[in-house]
Amino acid sequence: MEIAFKVHPEISASERKILFEWGPDIFHGSLYSLQWRPTDVHVVGYAGDEPVTHVGIVSHPVAVGSTRALVGGIGSVVTVPQKQKLGLAKECLRRAQSYMRSDLGVEYGFLFCPERLVEFYGRSGWRKLVEPVLVNQPGGKVTAPLCSMILEFAERWPEGPVDLGSQRLDRGPWRESMAYIERDRARRHRDAHTAELKGRGR
Ligand SMILES: CC(C)(COP(=O)(O)OP(=O)(O)OC[C@H]1O[C@@H](n2cnc3c(N)ncnc32)[C@H](O)[C@@H]1OP(=O)(O)O)[C@@H](O)C(=O)NCCC(=O)NCCS
Repeated sequence: MEIAFKVHPEISASERKILFEWGPDIFHGSLYSLQWRPTDVHVVGYAGDEPVTHVGIVSHPVAVGSTRALVGGIGSVVTVPQKQKLGLAKECLRRAQSYMRSDLGVEYGFLFCPERLVEFYGRSGWRKLVEPVLVNQPGGKVTAPLCSMILEFAERWPEGPVDLGSQRLDRGPWRESMAYIERDRARRHRDAHTAELKGRGR
């Protein structure tokens, strides 16, 4: 079976229907009733013209302990029932990971999943966080009732409690967080460079 993978900024209503509406509540969203930011990049695998597998991505700043990290959040991971257990989600995830690392330039991957899928993501390099993760919801901050998993691209995940923060990052706080991350990244590069020069005895 030939599957062509594409990365889109948007997916059409008919593709959404095929991918996400093949069952009444395929992500068991009603169990948790949480609100998430929609993902803004879509990795989709097609069999001919039909979308059969999907991974959504959103870049998002997260507070971890006293620092902040820019993560590629993964969501809406799905394969249509007729094409499950063929390794398609695994392959779609692999492509999403590569896109996050190379094109989005994020430091880590981040996702929520039910306990039964921890092993599935674990086989692609993801690690379950032991710390509880706070998320902003309309009624205030809540502890995410799902497993949180991270993927480390180059650096180790910082230590400390995790706060996923605001749902509306297109407003002020998003910009502030981005500026913070840029400053922090520049400082770390500068420190690494200084350490390297010191190491060379200069
Ligand atoms: C979870 C899901 C995306 C997997 O899609 P898929 O294309 O069948 O997955 P793959 O074929 O790539 O499976 C990869 C591995 O995970 C295992 N796996 C697949 N579905 C699984 C499930 N529901 N529970 C546990 N393990 C599962 C496979 O056996 C396979 O094992 P292997 O790596 O040893 O070969 C699919 O079952 C689905 O769409 N479920 C409904 C939506 C959902 O729950 N999404 C996840 C939100 S976090």
